[in-house]
Amino acid sequence: MPKKVIAIDGPAGAGKSTVAKELAKRLGYDYLDSGALYRALALKLMLAGLDGEASDDRIMNILKDTHIEFSNGKVYLDKADVSERIRTPETGHYTSVFSSKKVVRNFLLVLQKKAGNGADLVAEGRDMATVVFPDASNKFFITANVDIRAQRRFNQLNGKISFADALKDVQERDKRDSERTVAPLMKAPDAIEIDTSHKDIETVLSEIMRELA
Ligand code: DC
Repeated sequence: MPKKVIAIDGPAGAGKSTVAKELAKRLGYDYLDSGALYRALALKLMLAGLDGEASDDRIMNILKDTHIEFSNGKVYLDKADVSERIRTPETGHYTSVFSSKKVVRNFLLVLQKKAGNGADLVAEGRDMATVVFPDASNKFFITANVDIRAQRRFNQLNGKISFADALKDVQERDKRDSERTVAPLMKAPDAIEIDTSHKDIETVLSEIMRELA
């Protein structure tokens, strides 16, 4: 278990990753991008030809031989660097589908709890404060309005999809992530909510730092 955990949850496109990564850097903490773990697993299941209808047994059969690792900001799936492949819209879609499955979440729960190897940690995802690190020393829920999140996603994908598709994608993911029965996206009762719709990263970071002081 890590010593001290700062848990950051929130919907897609709220700016969690940027904030969490920079916060970890400034504090000298380790950084856990739990979404990248879900994405790498989903990529593996997708490449094995599975979809949302696959049985738990079939999924488990693949997961048991799966090795995911972070090193120098890169994500490795069974030793292959998949840092870019896990960010495609297709993998994002499958990630949202597979991450609703208990068998997948249980598998990753163990990995996540071990993150940081005893070092202090900034952990980012959907259920960091509610499920993975309920005893986190600080909890934040970072959000932004849906149009702004879609615009950020559109900019991030650099014209690979239209704004209408970016909006649809964000809306679908919000629905799937928050309506699933296992570990749905929600604000922990003791988390501090920060709306980043009209704030730049420095403003958000200073709000967080103020809470940590
Ligand atoms: O944060 P992200 O966009 O990389 O997450 C990709 C998907 O993974 C997202 O649709 C929800 C899922 N996810 C999750 O269910 N639980 C987490 N702790 C992190 C991500």
